[in-house]
Amino acid sequence: NRRITVRDITLAKERGEKWPMLTAYDAMTASVFDEAGIPVMLVGDSAGNCHLGYETTVPVTLDEMTMLSAAVVRGTKRALIVGDLPFGSYQEGPVQALRSATRLVKEAGVGAVKLEGGERSLAQTELLVQSGIPVMSHLGLTPQSVNTMGYRVQGRGDEDAHRLLRDAKAAQDAGAFAVVLELVPAELAAEVTRSLQIPTVGIGAGAECDAQVLVWTDMLGLTGGKMPRFVKQYADLRGVMGEAAKAFARDVVGGTFPQEEHSVH
Ligand code: KIV
Ligand code: NA
Repeated sequence: NRRITVRDITLAKERGEKWPMLTAYDAMTASVFDEAGIPVMLVGDSAGNCHLGYETTVPVTLDEMTMLSAAVVRGTKRALIVGDLPFGSYQEGPVQALRSATRLVKEAGVGAVKLEGGERSLAQTELLVQSGIPVMSHLGLTPQSVNTMGYRVQGRGDEDAHRLLRDAKAAQDAGAFAVVLELVPAELAAEVTRSLQIPTVGIGAGAECDAQVLVWTDMLGLTGGKMPRFVKQYADLRGVMGEAAKAFARDVVGGTFPQEEHSVH
């Protein structure tokens, strides 16, 4: 009963097996997904919006990612845990990237890290992989670039499509073991998937990717508000939790909780 490894992920593509990935930001949620058999969990910097109350992923710090990643590792036995390198922790260059990734590996115990960018993060990816740290690359919509790119579909038009293909090849050549494609036209994501030896992990990138990822609070209906089109909600946790909190409040105010069975003498 060992952890899933990057090698298992590589073999899955060779066998044509699709696999699911979910984000996780805390030990308890991660343990639920681990017991449910989710093979790969991403401690995404989406924790910024979905766990820590920031507006974007940009303010998330390496200290925060280290703490959240450590909790997810502690809460799991089987899953491969991938830790996101947050904005500002790898853009200065390969040496900074290695220093940051090393913290996630040594202090948090992640099995791999993820960073945004293909060609622009090539030197970082190469040094991490050479140093023994598996890298998942993230292309298409890259939320850490919200201030330059906004949140728009990426890879529309020939030039953008070619750039995405080049970025994907660059990530693969630099040694990345997988590449996330976020908000990319399905046809283009399918082409990238066919042309790479490493698996593609789609989010809003159609059905042809080798794997699919969703942000767990979106997937379980906890986030609230309007969801992007690519999210499928499998539960209404926000509703369930809200109703439970109201019922508890009613019981306390009305004096119907605690009952005798909840009391000690
Ligand atoms: O931070 C995150 O959750 C991500 C996924 C959407 C891929 O990067
Ligand atoms: Na992310």
